[in-house]
Amino acid sequence: MPYLLTPGPLTTSRTVKLAMLADWGSRDIEFRQVVKDIRKGLLKAASCGADYECVIMQGSGTFAIEAALGCFCPSGEAKTLVVANGAYGDRAAKILERIGRPVVKIDKGDSAAPTAEDVTSALEADEAISHVWVIHCETTSGIVNPIHDIGRAVKAKGKTYLVDAMSSFGALPLDMEASQIDVMVSSSNKCIEGVPGFSYVLVKRDLLEASKGKCHSVVLDLYEQWKGLEANGQFRFTPPTHALVAFHQALKEFEQQGGVAARGARYARNAQVLIKGMRDMGFSTLLNDNEAGPIIQTFLTPRDPNFDFEHFYEALRARGFAIYPGKLTKRPSFRIGSIGQVDEKVIQGVLAAIRETLAEMNVTDLTPLEA
Ligand SMILES: Cc1ncc(COP(=O)(O)O)c(C=O)c1O
Repeated sequence: MPYLLTPGPLTTSRTVKLAMLADWGSRDIEFRQVVKDIRKGLLKAASCGADYECVIMQGSGTFAIEAALGCFCPSGEAKTLVVANGAYGDRAAKILERIGRPVVKIDKGDSAAPTAEDVTSALEADEAISHVWVIHCETTSGIVNPIHDIGRAVKAKGKTYLVDAMSSFGALPLDMEASQIDVMVSSSNKCIEGVPGFSYVLVKRDLLEASKGKCHSVVLDLYEQWKGLEANGQFRFTPPTHALVAFHQALKEFEQQGGVAARGARYARNAQVLIKGMRDMGFSTLLNDNEAGPIIQTFLTPRDPNFDFEHFYEALRARGFAIYPGKLTKRPSFRIGSIGQVDEKVIQGVLAAIRETLAEMNVTDLTPLEA
């Protein structure tokens, strides 16, 4: 199988894969202990105090996003401000619209980070805004948004602060208390390096309690999910048992390997080697170095008429590397991830495969296509 150089599903360790070889009963005491350990481990990894809870939700990251938006964001007169600079911000706004929750949006395009001042101005312009939703690493481009500074701006106005840390949690430092985050969402197949199957929400207990009866959906109701987990350690509906035991193992490895600092450093090294290697070949990045995080890098599509992305993708796939097909940014581009169980040697491998592929395609002009 290829190395997955994408924002997830990503390459996992052999021991994480091996953890899935057994069949677990969802009501067994051992399995319930696994769930308990995961919830505790996630709260610890996010530096949560005793007033936070962890609720696991079946399904991919977007399930936890819709659950959090539906449980905690207001209906009626009050509004949620979505701070968008890419596809995931746009998606959060779309979900709010669909479920009938008033939403206003700051749209920074897809290669600029929002500032605390942007948020303060939006809050001052519309006093009906009570909640603010921000993306930590906007995986559309890989840009890292200043969630700590934005948190200060949000709390200076006494609003509720929700963060989508899907692709960053476990790799970039995130301190729920210090950054005054009320709600954070992420999922199993990102930087903790588990497999897809569930997402999770870390949330202040008082907000969770106040959400009783507010969710637009039965399955996405975080209050009811939490009550079930607290009552007997069981899920209300069939849990993804294999994904949970794999994540339990992944979390153990994450802690043994040095937690966020060590993981962030490995990804940063991967990103550094990747960017240098691509620039040495002649590629350009969408973002400047001070904006790009260590999660995923966006490269501008070359203008050489011989460059065909489908061919490029398939040729790399045949050489053992799956990059990210398609483009999300408005400028023609493609992305290569630096997260998962991959190191500098793997990155050198994909760079060699790219050099071979460009020669095979007879691509020589790597100047970016005009926007
Ligand atoms: C920042 C961010 N938010 C939301 C999502 C959506 O997650 P999923 O595709 O698991 O539903 C992703 C996926 O990569 C993401 O990177």
